[in-house]
Amino acid sequence: MVKTTNMGGGAGRRSDRDLKVRVKTSKGRKIGSTLWLQRQLNDPYVARAKAEGLRSRAAYKIKELDERYKLFKKGQRIVDLGAAPGGWSQVAAPLVGSTDANPLIAAIDFLEMDKISGVVFLQQDFTDDGAPKALIDALGGHKVDIVMSDMASPTTGHRATDHIRIITLVELAADFAINVLAPGGTFVAKVFQGGTEHELLSLLKRHFATTLHAKPKASRQESAETYLIARGFKAQPTD
Ligand SMILES: C[S@@+](CC[C@H](N)C(=O)[O-])C[C@H]1O[C@@H](n2cnc3c(N)ncnc32)[C@H](O)[C@@H]1O
Repeated sequence: MVKTTNMGGGAGRRSDRDLKVRVKTSKGRKIGSTLWLQRQLNDPYVARAKAEGLRSRAAYKIKELDERYKLFKKGQRIVDLGAAPGGWSQVAAPLVGSTDANPLIAAIDFLEMDKISGVVFLQQDFTDDGAPKALIDALGGHKVDIVMSDMASPTTGHRATDHIRIITLVELAADFAINVLAPGGTFVAKVFQGGTEHELLSLLKRHFATTLHAKPKASRQESAETYLIARGFKAQPTD
């Protein structure tokens, strides 16, 4: 078992007494979408991201993980899986000192993403055969210091299918990390509590010095998502 560190409670600069925006269910809008919209409009991280020019509330999750675990250092090379709209890359680029002249971050998503300076973006499905090589080529064929994955597939509503999709994505990301990380490297990935993580964890424990789970406070408490951090990648034996 890996201990999950809960990184604290409420996010906001606003108090609970602040006025909440209520969204009326309109004709044609499903109740789920109405609740999502209402939650977005009342979410202090969404407001903060907008005010601070960050592209997503997810940016605060990686910021918190970095503040706590000191993930990013100058000169590191990073691959960002499931990068759009770009919050994680946006946070990481200045911290590693990535520039357009010397890009240190390769990011991928099948959705579009607006340009971030210092980030080479591939609009492609990470599960495509050529994607892993394209990412490494984008970084000049060098080994990578951090593979970070915030990938999540759109849910189908069918529990078993959604579950398999989530597990498959994180396993592919872990497999990629094991192939491309430099010794000492780090793998950070979104996982979901209650997932069949046993095999994944034992794989990571074989390849990394330490593994832990962390739940940043920017991650909604009601969400089953948590972040797995594996550090100290062990050098691969050469054949
Ligand atoms: C939670 S969002 C990422 C947010 C991002 N970390 C940020 O800070 O802006 C998850 C992303 O994973 C992407 N994704 C899911 N499956 C993918 C796949 N197979 N290949 C590429 N991207 C994928 C989705 O398109 C989505 O943009």
